[in-house]
Amino acid sequence: MAALDPRHTNALVYDHPLVQHKLTRLRSRDTNYADFRRLLNELAGLMAYEVCRNLPTREVEIETPVARAKGRMLATPVTIVPILRAGLGMTDGLLSLFPEARVGHIGIYRDESTAKPVTYYSKLPDDVAHGPVILVDPMLATGGSAAHAVDILQERGVLNIQLVCLVAAPEGLTLMREQHPEVVVHTAAIDERLNEHYYIVPGLGDAGDRIFGTH
Ligand code: PRP
Ligand code: URA
Repeated sequence: MAALDPRHTNALVYDHPLVQHKLTRLRSRDTNYADFRRLLNELAGLMAYEVCRNLPTREVEIETPVARAKGRMLATPVTIVPILRAGLGMTDGLLSLFPEARVGHIGIYRDESTAKPVTYYSKLPDDVAHGPVILVDPMLATGGSAAHAVDILQERGVLNIQLVCLVAAPEGLTLMREQHPEVVVHTAAIDERLNEHYYIVPGLGDAGDRIFGTH
């Protein structure tokens, strides 16, 4: 379902037909807010299965109604961390597959003239470092917001960070590889480039505005 990109070796690209079908509908300017929100969560749910592929498990013993049995369960608690605002649009989709996960929040917006990240909020479980973190934001443009969110998580001691986005620009993937080569970027698409306003081309516009109807 996902393959390493030959040009960006930190990127796993999800080329599954259903992912691509829903992404194309999401990109269309004719898709309204309600459909945009629904598609975003559906895409996050489809990607979640593969994102979790390498999570550590441990052996446990349980009683079935018939006999004692050995099984495997996730070894440590997983925390989903959306980058506010737009990451919220994927969180329910991930939780639908993964209801036991905790949810932390990091609030970052881009300064409109410089596109540099500005952090305004951070609330994470006290023991967030105890397990993997799935960091979520549909858009990776310059990469500044995601790289900064990874800094915050690493300052808290988190070692295993998976970044899940939908649309990545080559510029953002390059920045992530330079600053955080240990972080795998899961994405449904790698687009052409950024425009002069640091928006992804062709992209899907401003994800936060399209989720929350604020433009
Ligand atoms: C968007 C998006 C990312 C960021 C990506 O957020 O959701 O967080 O831009 O851009 P970057 O890779 O260049 O940092 P935005 O700043 O629009 O804030 P919002 O989600 O609150 O609307
Ligand atoms: N943030 C968005 O929401 N869209 C872009 O294209 C770039 C940053």
